[in-house]
Amino acid sequence: MITTRIIGTGSALPVHTLTNDDLSKFLDTSDEWIRTRTGICTRQLAGDGESTVTLAVEAGKKALLNSGVSPEEIQMVLVATCSSENYFPSVGCRVQEALGLTHASAMDLSAACSGFLFALHTAHAYIVSGYCRTVLVIGAETLSRTIDWSDRSTCVLFGDGAGACVVRGEETGLIQILQHSDGTKGDVLMANTRRTATPVSSEREGMPLSMDGQAVFRFAVKTVPECIQELMAKTDRSLEEVDHVVLHQANSRIIESVAKRLHMPLEKFAINLDRHGNTSAASIPLLLDEMNREGRLKKGDLVLLSGFGAGLTWGAALLEW
Ligand code: ACO
Repeated sequence: MITTRIIGTGSALPVHTLTNDDLSKFLDTSDEWIRTRTGICTRQLAGDGESTVTLAVEAGKKALLNSGVSPEEIQMVLVATCSSENYFPSVGCRVQEALGLTHASAMDLSAACSGFLFALHTAHAYIVSGYCRTVLVIGAETLSRTIDWSDRSTCVLFGDGAGACVVRGEETGLIQILQHSDGTKGDVLMANTRRTATPVSSEREGMPLSMDGQAVFRFAVKTVPECIQELMAKTDRSLEEVDHVVLHQANSRIIESVAKRLHMPLEKFAINLDRHGNTSAASIPLLLDEMNREGRLKKGDLVLLSGFGAGLTWGAALLEW
């Protein structure tokens, strides 16, 4: 039986770091409030010359190098993003061009903070169907450019970045993966695209990111544990056997609550949101790459992933490293 294995990881971060104290210079906020309510201390923001595309390219390049796969072997590029600079061409096509992935098709996928999970699932479907053997899956975001920087309830949360995984059809790897959506709850977390006037419609200005933080919090702490239980029930593994849990990095209080509800030790939950904030679709592959580079992921380790975000969307995956 063929499944999907992560054989290489990479990541990229903007050069500029913004601390909580930096934010408190132009916002009515404090390091203490942000740390205690979110766990975030610093985040990186894309500056001049940096974009969703440049971050995706850098992360993808490093993942290719780490995997040892040649550019010609990549048959598909899938980029999960909700902050592309362009309607088209896709970030995926830009990555294909920059990395010389001459034998790949390329496309983007939008599922907000669940984007990487959804992209991994999509890559898996192409792999198990026999359509592709090797896929470059990237999560890349510059959400800082969709935010109202005078809204202290949202702008302190997000950071920019990208993470990438080269995945290949092999005999071991992904054990189970699932994804869900609830479009009826779309209003709790929104960012509109900018539209121009037409001869028959007046101009509709794009709205920056808006969020009902408490509704998102309630959704995450209820849905993520349920989704993980649903996932595990489809496998012959137990939560006790899991070595690492890699959740979407939104808020340390969400992570603590999920650990408690699953009766799992918090030490198994990897965290980097203190340094990078919420990087949306990039958060899971960014964290996986950090863990991989630090040698924390050993061959055969059981790794549980779960993403959740706007849409609403959520998903989980269990894999053997
Ligand atoms: N600094 C200081 N005070 C603030 C700030 C800030 N940055 N932001 C909000 N406040 C104030 C509010 O104005 C409010 O003041 P008031 O009582 O005078 O009206 C007070 O703090 C409490 O506001 P709440 O919104 O109730 O604060 P809460 O404890 O819910 O924390 C937060 C807000 C951190 C957003 C929380 O709801 C949360 O983490 N929600 C989860 C959402 C999330 O993580 N979203 C990330 C994106 S979504 C995703 O990735 C899936």
